[in-house]
Amino acid sequence: MLEVQNVSYSVTEDGVTRKILDDVSLTIPDSKLTVITGPNGGGKSTLARIIAGVLTPDSGRILFDGQDITDMSVTDRARIGIGFAFQQPVRFKGIKVIDLLRLAKDTKKLSSADACKYLAAVGLCAKDYIDREVNASLSGGELKRIEIATVLIKQSKLSLFDEPEAGIDLWSFQNLIEVFDGMRKHIEGSSIIIISHQERILKIADEILLIKDGKLAARGEADEIMPMLMANESVVKNCNLTDIWKGGAEC
Ligand SMILES: Nc1ncnc2c1ncn2[C@@H]1O[C@H](COP(=O)(O)OP(=O)(O)OP(=O)(O)O)[C@@H](O)[C@H]1O
Ligand SMILES: [Mg+2]
Repeated sequence: MLEVQNVSYSVTEDGVTRKILDDVSLTIPDSKLTVITGPNGGGKSTLARIIAGVLTPDSGRILFDGQDITDMSVTDRARIGIGFAFQQPVRFKGIKVIDLLRLAKDTKKLSSADACKYLAAVGLCAKDYIDREVNASLSGGELKRIEIATVLIKQSKLSLFDEPEAGIDLWSFQNLIEVFDGMRKHIEGSSIIIISHQERILKIADEILLIKDGKLAARGEADEIMPMLMANESVVKNCNLTDIWKGGAEC
């Protein structure tokens, strides 16, 4: 079980401090698929980076299976079973797709045939990709799918995907839903967090957490949370939005 306890995080720019996460507490239970959703800029990716260990919170604690991992490095967190796919994956010049998958598996023994299975699972024709370099020549969607394959291959105790659907075409999206559905069927003893705006993904969640304005605004099942997402309120706080064709927004 993952526990986020009273986590706050702020950034300071040009002498102005802004709170991105404000006293967030939540638990991610074992053997469940939890989806985190909420408006753009609400703090979801920041929370994901704190869970993965890329960022350290200003205050609060992160516990994983009862162990305080707040100050643990990304590498050590990966070692104890936290796998992470970024919203914007990193490119690795000079490293081939097969090498990246072997690194994820933590062994050189991953056969090409096994690697191909994982690439096929994310909708990539393995023979076309296995020897490609993970560099700028890959499209955003291809890179995203390769990164998702690395998380699948790790079979971590906790797998965290930040907007896995971003940049993925409609055909592959269907395939991706099936991948997550399959993971969920074999979830016993592990857990999955998916950050997403997609209704199809919200619908396969055991529970949805709504993060808004840096706070946990609600948690519940799809039927309870979906109406809150559709609530008709201004998306630009403190702005009086007017018709741009008549002169734009006044902030
Ligand atoms: N290093 C930083 N410096 C300044 N502002 C930041 C920094 N990191 C995050 N922010 C701001 O914090 C807010 C939350 O960002 P975050 O990426 O966590 O949002 P999000 O909920 O993942 O949004 P999205 O749905 O668009 O991915 C945003 O307003 C963002 O601009
Ligand atoms: Mg984000």
